[in-house]
Amino acid sequence: MEKTIEQINQEALNELETASDMESIRALSVRYLGRKGIITRFLRNISKLPPEERPIAGKKANETKKTLDKIFKDALDRLETATADATDRIDVSLPGRMVLAGSLHPITQINRLICDIFTNLGFDIVEGPEVETDYYNFEALNIPKNHPARDMQDTFYISDNIVLRTHTSPVQIRTMEKQTPPVRIIAPGKVYRCDSDLTHTPMFHQVEGLLVDENVSFGDLKGILTTFVHRMFDEQISLRFRPSFFPFTEPSAEVDILCVICRGKGCRVCSQTGWLEVLGAGMVHPALFENIGYDTARYTGFAFGMGVERIAMLKYGIDDIRKYFDNDLRFLRQF
Ligand code: FA5
Repeated sequence: MEKTIEQINQEALNELETASDMESIRALSVRYLGRKGIITRFLRNISKLPPEERPIAGKKANETKKTLDKIFKDALDRLETATADATDRIDVSLPGRMVLAGSLHPITQINRLICDIFTNLGFDIVEGPEVETDYYNFEALNIPKNHPARDMQDTFYISDNIVLRTHTSPVQIRTMEKQTPPVRIIAPGKVYRCDSDLTHTPMFHQVEGLLVDENVSFGDLKGILTTFVHRMFDEQISLRFRPSFFPFTEPSAEVDILCVICRGKGCRVCSQTGWLEVLGAGMVHPALFENIGYDTARYTGFAFGMGVERIAMLKYGIDDIRKYFDNDLRFLRQF
């Protein structure tokens, strides 16, 4: 009898050696220790043994049952730990996952470049509201109600008196109201007009410039803008000052840059003219100074307002302004 229980024990251990997964170890445990298992059946049959053999056989069978139970449980634990380890382990040979880093929008990049150039020339940066009153957007800039100059900009009206600012020029007035000369500021920001084609979008960015001091001349304006254009593009780029009209400057000019897309030959972006308009400028109209309370006998000043998208088009050779706002990643990732 003793031999038989030892045989059973040995067979169980042999079978355990070949069991490679948790499922087969569990099956083995049931086969030997379950309700109808080999050892359980053995224990039930002890009563059929001669009385003197029963205590030893019973003791041996119970010990074997206990030991095998522990051996099976240990084997299961080991396998479980090994599986968890394998799951947690980092496979250093796997290729890394690419992390896509965001980048600055090309218009933001050009905006910052413009600001850098002017701050290096001694200008401070100021900001104004995008939702503006009719007074700051028009009246204070010498554009009274029903003045034909209001038609130059297709305005989004929020109410009779409130507009989405059509240009950054209102910041000129807001700055002069707060500050006495000398004034030397630029004002970057979004502006809005009901306009859309190859070179116009309903929302675009401008950078306003204003310099007021004694003895400021149109020559200073030309000098500052020429320096700006040469720093933004290169020393060779041609620019021209074309006489123009703005109610808030006198005399006024528009500045064109040689179209870098066709190098002046004429293309659809420059409407076959070879030039692209990038900014409006002029000497601040004395009516504005009088309204603010600046001494017109002592102070003169110049102002300009440039289109950031237009400059970005020229800088990067982009032939349609709307591409900046399509949010096509294939386009944006190139910058
Ligand atoms: C003005 O907005 C004047 N406030 C500029 C100014 C400031 C003149 C100070 C004198 C003194 P204008 O409407 O021309 O001017 O616009 C200025 C520039 O904004 C243009 O040269 C052009 O580069 C850009 N621009 C105008 N409309 C659009 C548009 N819809 N989309 C993109 N850029 C535009």
